[in-house]
Formats: sequence, structure tokens, C-alpha cells
Amino acid sequence: MKEQIISLVETALDTLRQRGDLPDQPRPPVQVERTRDKQHGDFATNIALMLAKPAGRKPRDVAEALLAALPESPLVSKAEIAGPGFINFFQAGNYLQDQLKAALADDKLGIAPAARAQTVVVDYSSPNLAKEMHVGHLRSTIIGDAVTRTLEFLGHTVVRQNHVGDWGTQFGMLLAYLEEQQDQAELSSELSDLENFYRAAKQRFDESPEFADRARSLVVMLQSGDAHCLKLWHDFNQVSLNHCFEVYQRLGVSLTPADVRGESAYNPELPVIVAALEQAGLLVESDGARCIFLDDFTTRDGQPLPVIVQKADGGYLYATSDLAALRYRAQTLGADRILYFVDQRQALHFQQVFQVARLAGFVPETTALEHMGFGTMNGPDGKPFKTRAGGTVKLVDLLSEAEDRALALVSSKNPALDQDDLMQIASTVGISAVKYADLSKHRTSDYIFNFEQMLSFDGNTAPYLLYAYTRVASIFRKADVAPDSLTAPITTDDERELALANNLLQFGEVLQSVADKGQPHLLCTYLYDLAGQFSGFYEHCPILGADSEALRDSRLQLAWLTARTLRQGLSLLGITTLERM
Ligand code: ARG
Repeated sequence: MKEQIISLVETALDTLRQRGDLPDQPRPPVQVERTRDKQHGDFATNIALMLAKPAGRKPRDVAEALLAALPESPLVSKAEIAGPGFINFFQAGNYLQDQLKAALADDKLGIAPAARAQTVVVDYSSPNLAKEMHVGHLRSTIIGDAVTRTLEFLGHTVVRQNHVGDWGTQFGMLLAYLEEQQDQAELSSELSDLENFYRAAKQRFDESPEFADRARSLVVMLQSGDAHCLKLWHDFNQVSLNHCFEVYQRLGVSLTPADVRGESAYNPELPVIVAALEQAGLLVESDGARCIFLDDFTTRDGQPLPVIVQKADGGYLYATSDLAALRYRAQTLGADRILYFVDQRQALHFQQVFQVARLAGFVPETTALEHMGFGTMNGPDGKPFKTRAGGTVKLVDLLSEAEDRALALVSSKNPALDQDDLMQIASTVGISAVKYADLSKHRTSDYIFNFEQMLSFDGNTAPYLLYAYTRVASIFRKADVAPDSLTAPITTDDERELALANNLLQFGEVLQSVADKGQPHLLCTYLYDLAGQFSGFYEHCPILGADSEALRDSRLQLAWLTARTLRQGLSLLGITTLERM
């Protein structure tokens, strides 16, 4: 509805411009907002106030001219001027009902696919394979996945890119250790805990000079494509990737092996990238290293801050493979938009490589590059989350603890559940609690990880929403009606019915902002409000005890649309609903 009003206003503005009633110059975008007080219409715009000054006219005059030029629309019953020059729009009475009916009849809840479908490349999760996934990878994985699902729901083509760190000097140490261990039969059990494996390798490296030498020579051999080294390297990465996929599966994350395109995939391109930068006249040699100096980037005391693409010893860097990845994504994958869900602390890196990629012509102006940075997940002390012993917390351990705690919680609330149901419910509640706690926070802020809070049934949490969904679902079990058989008109005479109906129809706008801004918390807030609004409606507007069958069926339809919106919204967040809990 908002979009339709914006386009009506734009048409009117074009008419005025053609007639010479408004100056022919660039103007600010038309903003249309939903009003709070429905007595003054359902939508309002301040465009006349924005245009008055540049046009040298009074805001109310501009508003009047605009009203006169506004095309007729079946969606708008009335438009009028308010205050200093706002224009208020009243949506046509049957509009609400038509939209609700259309949403009910549609698998996608009446949300039209994007007018211009884009190819969006989303870089997310992207852990380093030298170690096991730890809590630092949770945010990228979960937030990236939610935005990816939302983009797909809106009709965009998404290419997932899991840019795993599968290359670098630490692999020499790991391969040397792997080589030593391979003589022993217990290799697979050694590798079952990559964290320990890494630690043991590091210890050998620090203690034994021969081992360290072997590690260094293995790096050189690996880089020159030695078959034995490549095999060890490949085996190791396979084991590490299996760990990742175990985590993705437990988390319900949609990444597949086909989405993995690690740093090493760009190795053959790196010399080409450096040559192209040279050709573009961007390279400067500094102490033997090859760098790019950008005017916009200096240290605090004004020293230039170079992007290094090749070290003096010939080695390439993180930035070099990211430049190759940018070129691949823009040119081979044909991205209209490339999103990076990576820790906020890498913001400078992305600003730099984005700029270099544009200057070198790897990425056209028309491709949007967006670093969707996120803050740190902290422990109760406000410092980065650690184990009691001060180590990094492995993601698998965190998820297991969440499930254990959920099990205790669910069985205490519902002791009669049989064991299988209990385990399944506990796992859903535990995992969704962890995911939702993360998704519901503003992406760029740090947050404190707190099991008690995320598992609470009160407040903006997964258990609250899952429970709200089961409550709506249970109405249908009790009523014993098939939702699709309900045909009564939907009435919204009670203000709570009206508020609920209006909110239900905002789902599409919310998804649009999640997709634009990469901020799933907007969807969380929306679902939380929706669940709250439903409670208010449910308390004050009896459904099964309604005064007439028509009213009952009208309310059942509002309830059904609420249930489906909650379920769809949670599913876009990567959370599956339960029918009972
Ligand atoms: N592997 C990196 C890390 O763990 C993240 C990679 C993000 N993606 C990228 N294209 N740089 O910090």
C-alpha cells in the first residue's frame, strides 16, 4: 500500500513539473509513513513541506496543487491536507479486507516478488578451517542465513558464498603434525577435536625446531603444488568442513557444500589480480612489498595506510584473495549486490578492498558492495565470550548446553510429554533460543550472551514466540475447522481487530527493510509486536465464543493469518515452529 501511494504522489509531482508548477530539478524521495492516529487517515506524506522552499511557495499551496493533480485510485477513498502542509490518505474501506483475503489465499501471504529481481551474492559464515567453529562464527552464520532466506522469499536470486579460510601459513604446522600422526592409527580420533589438534600442533611447533622447519618447508611445497602436500591439505580441510556442516545442520542453516568457495579457490587468479592492479597504475613498491595507497586511508597520525597485495617474499594476502573474489562475484557471478556478513572489526579492510576493486575496474559502479558488519558476542562480564578456563567456546558445546538447558525447562513445564517429543521440542527450543537472541539484537551492537534470558518465556525471545504460535494453532484444533474453508467477510469493527489486521499487512514492508538493510532484528521486533497484538485481540475479542458464526469465522481468519505470518517470519529467521510445546 505504501508503495502504491508513493507512486500516486510521484505521478502527481511529474504532472506538476510538466505543467511548470514545480521547478524542474532533482527532488528528495517521496516519504510515506503510516499514521498512528487512524482518525487522520492511514498514511501521510510531508513531501509538500520538503518541496515548498526550493519551489519558493507556501507548503499548503504545494499540497493543494499536489492534491488537485493526484490521480484517482480505487485504493484511496480520500486524501486531505493537514497542519502546515502534510497530506493524509485514507485507504478505501474494502481495501483492508481485499488485502487480507489476498494474503490468506496466497502461499506467500500476498507478498509480491520484487519488481526488479537482483542477483545477490552473500558472503557469510566463512570460518577459518584451521580451527573448529567457535562462537565468533555464530553471528555471521545466523544473520547471513536469515537475510539470505528473506532475499530469496522476495524473489531475488541469491548466490551463497562460504569464503572459508583454507589457505595460509598455519597450514604448514597442521600438515607437519598431520604427517607425524598419520603413521598412527588414531588419526580420525585426533581430528575429531580440531581444537586440540591445533593446540598440539602449535605445541610441537614451539618446542621442536626440526618440526618447525618441516612446517615451513611444507608451506613452500604446498604453495608450489606438491601432490603429497596437497593431499594432506585436502584431507585436513575435508575433516574441518565436516565439522562445519555438522554445526550448520544442528543450527538449521541453509549452507551446502556447493556454497563453499574458499580463499584457495582464488590462488590461480592472484598473479592476474596483481598484474591488473599494476596495469591500472595503482601499485607502489614499499620495502619490497607491493601496495596501493588510497587518499582516504591514513593512520591516526596522518601516515598513509597501504593495502598490501603482495609481500616482499612473493606471498599474497587476505586482501588479494578478497579482490579476486570481488572480481569473480561481479564479473562471473554477475552480482547486482554483494553483501559481506563479517565482523565489524574488519570494516577498514572492506572499505579499502571495495575502493581498490572499483578503481581497478573489477566491479562496475552498478554493483552495490555492502559490508554488513556486526558487533561482538560477549560473556556476562561484558568481555568476549570465553570458557571458564579462558579458552574460546566451541560452537558445538554452546549448542549442546542450550539444548540441555531447554530440556530441563521443557520437561519441568510439561512433565507428561513422552521422551521423543520432549527431545525434539527441547532441541528446537534450545537452538532457536540461541539463534533468536542473536538475530533480535541490532546487528552492529555488541551483546551479552545470556542463557537465562534467551530461554525465558517472557519478552522478545524464541520460547515466547514459539509458544505464541502454538497458542494460535491450538485454536484451530479446538474449533475443529479447516482454515481454508472459511469464507465469511473479515470485519474489523473492534479496534483490536483493526490494529491486528493493519499489522498483518505490514509483513511485506518489514521483509523489504530486512533485505535492504541486512537487519533481521526488524523482523524479530515485528513478530514480537504481532504476537503481543494477537494476545490483546484474543483477550478482548472472543473467537470461539463470538456472538455470531460470521464474526467467529472472521476472527478465525485473522487468527489463521497471524499463525501463518508468525510461522513464515520465523522460518525466514531459520526457526522452525512447533505445533505444541
Ligand atoms: N575467514 C575470515 C575470518 O574468519 C572471514 C572471511 C570473510 N569473508 C571475506 N570475503 N573476507 O575472519
